[in-house]
Amino acid sequence: MTSKSAIWSLRVAPSHRSRNDALPILQVMALIELNAIRKSYRSGDVQTPVLHGIDLLVQRGDHVALMGPSGSGKSTLMNLLGLLDRADEGHYLLDGRDVTSLTAAEHAGVRNQTIGFVFQSFNLLKRMNVLENVALPLLYAGQSHKAARLRAQEVLQQVGLGTLGHRMPNQLSGGQQQRVAIARALVNRPPLLLADEPTGNLDTATAEEVLQVIDSLNRDQGLTVVLVTHETDVAQHARRLVKLKDGRIVFDGIPEGSV
Ligand SMILES: Nc1ncnc2c1ncn2[C@@H]1O[C@H](COP(=O)(O)OP(=O)(O)OP(=O)(O)O)[C@@H](O)[C@H]1O
Ligand SMILES: [Mg+2]
Repeated sequence: MTSKSAIWSLRVAPSHRSRNDALPILQVMALIELNAIRKSYRSGDVQTPVLHGIDLLVQRGDHVALMGPSGSGKSTLMNLLGLLDRADEGHYLLDGRDVTSLTAAEHAGVRNQTIGFVFQSFNLLKRMNVLENVALPLLYAGQSHKAARLRAQEVLQQVGLGTLGHRMPNQLSGGQQQRVAIARALVNRPPLLLADEPTGNLDTATAEEVLQVIDSLNRDQGLTVVLVTHETDVAQHARRLVKLKDGRIVFDGIPEGSV
């Protein structure tokens, strides 16, 4: 039984706190921080500037839609974020680490640990079944077949395809194939999912199915999502909309009609 004095001391404790007992200030580090990123492409003697000084902060757990006209630099930006290409100028901090000047091999290592990427095309290996497709990155990372299959099955479950591991990719609908691609992208448990027009090849109902899966991974597992789309109703799934025009950010705010 709690004594009267113990209750009393609990009740009075807060008023006895000295002013120096301030609550600790949590330093929340952004998952993505881009500073003054510039990128151009050279073909022959012609240098075409594409990104003109991009500054962007994305916190862990955020859900960002990236929109903009064709040619505005969305895929270029996603490729930089995904360490598939490098900027000409500026700095990129990923999970607090400056990754700007790392070697290609170091980029590959960071990418495997930190980033899952999905594209408009699903890029599944036709001769492997669904479970094997999803398990593949773990086998490359040196895991045993047994551990890789167990984890692949777990992540297939999370995207709602727990019973379809034995199917070949061509025995699935487009939406199911994209969900397999998402499972494969996330099998290593990266904190960041980059998706470049993941619903671009899908009809509206199927796209919705894929978006629901991404939404639930963001909501329930804190997965940070950056997703490129041309569709306003796709962008409404995000909490934040970033618009690019001619290689510059022209809007950064809440998507109209988001829920
Ligand atoms: N590898 C490359 N070499 C030369 N130019 C390129 C290359 N990749 C992209 N570009 C050019 O850079 C600009 C931006 O291309 P990007 O693919 O980033 O646009 P986007 O916003 O993704 O467009 P879309 O909505 O059509 O996918 C375009 O003018 C494009 O032609
Ligand atoms: Mg593109």
